[in-house]
Amino acid sequence: MTTEALKQQPAPQQAAAAKSGTDLIRIHGGKRLNGTIEISGAKNAALPLMCAALLTDEAVRFTNMPNTLRDIRTLTAVLESLGAIITMGPDGEMVIHAQEIKSDHADYELVRQMRASILVLGPLLARMGAAEVSLPGGCAIGTRPIDLHLMGLEAMGAKIELHDGYVRATAPDGLCGAEITFPKVSVGATENLMMAATLAKGTTVLHNAAMEREISDLGACLIAMGADITGLGTPVITIKGVPALHSALHKVIADRIETGTYMIAVALTGGTLRLKNTQTEFLKALIGPLKDAGVSFDEDGGDIIVHRNGKPLVGTDIMTAPYPGFPTDLQAQFMTMLTQCEGAGMISETIFENRFMHVPELCRMGANITVQGNAAIVRGVKKLKGAEVMATDLRASVALVLAGLVAEGTTTVDRIYHLDRGYENLVEKLQACGAEIERIREK
Ligand code: EPZ
Repeated sequence: MTTEALKQQPAPQQAAAAKSGTDLIRIHGGKRLNGTIEISGAKNAALPLMCAALLTDEAVRFTNMPNTLRDIRTLTAVLESLGAIITMGPDGEMVIHAQEIKSDHADYELVRQMRASILVLGPLLARMGAAEVSLPGGCAIGTRPIDLHLMGLEAMGAKIELHDGYVRATAPDGLCGAEITFPKVSVGATENLMMAATLAKGTTVLHNAAMEREISDLGACLIAMGADITGLGTPVITIKGVPALHSALHKVIADRIETGTYMIAVALTGGTLRLKNTQTEFLKALIGPLKDAGVSFDEDGGDIIVHRNGKPLVGTDIMTAPYPGFPTDLQAQFMTMLTQCEGAGMISETIFENRFMHVPELCRMGANITVQGNAAIVRGVKKLKGAEVMATDLRASVALVLAGLVAEGTTTVDRIYHLDRGYENLVEKLQACGAEIERIREK
């Protein structure tokens, strides 16, 4: 299949409803999940990895890319608007060749669709000495400022101007290494500055750097491209600038958030799921509370076997935190699980200021949840009732799908374009394990 065809080709689940209107997901709840699910490449590793390809004029090859995700398509359009040539293969292959950067301007029309586009700022500035990127703006879960990205680039000698909703960064004589301490942990700022520092003159040290698995994956790819980076996975990352980077071949790590989502799905429905092409090592902060709630785990030839058969779920407390703490991207899904636990559980959301928008929708399904500031108390109820609910953001959407899997009756989830941003073939993967779930077209 040619790249163009693949780029144009809607993901399988979208093909079925590519006519008009918005997509809906309809679920008849109550089915246990039994079967095997192949985990895709990590969206939150893939996006910075794609931006890293701007740092060299040679081709960078990837495998295990989640090519059908909407966010990947959006970032592909951003990189192509800058002059990169991108080809995609059917099995997660992708080649990005930014031989010539034709423009250093990342337009609002594209950036507003996917705020992680801000990750082109550091690479563009390092490669070209100038970059103009639309300010990404906020999203449903928070204001999502980029002050830490800009603070770091200024420390490396960039001149930063804000005008008409764009940030213009210039460093005509190139960036210089700097000691940078983040006042708070930021995944994106760590990624942007790590990429920018690879081509800076001298050494950059990032203190209070984020330690997420996706950052270590980005660092591993940059090292394969010739960068000199140490300290990945620790709070102090040191990058010694080099004159140029070169081609590399890199396999994207498995998506730990997709993995955790399916773990919670089977915890809710009961049954046994075999999760392939993934690992438990980077999900300890989820597996602990799931075991406390009554979920069992086994490993078999590199696969993760997750099962909950018989014992009722027991409520447990979680607090989201930067890695290795409980991932904020699994908070909504875990809350859905707590609605079905015996007893109560408390969720504290410490990363984003508005990440409880799934709460009113879950309450419409009969959940008993009380929110006080950044804390939510979830008291288990016997049953959720199917309802028409609306997705508001990527992880809230999947939390509503999980609720539908276990609710009595029929649940329809609207605005599931949010889901297509971060879950490859969700409906097909769940159907194959016995869920009564389908993607339909609004009348
Ligand atoms: C990344 O977002 C992920 N996105 C998010 O996943 C994830 O929730 C988040 O990290 C935290 O783990 C991608 O990797 C593409 P941050 P990012 O910078 O980098 C504040 C999903 O569902 N902050 O670590 O934007 C910020 O407002 C998405 O897949 C500043 O104040 O997150 C937030 O409160 C959602 N100034 C906190 O830091 C800044 O300059 C953490 O944000 C940057 C961030």
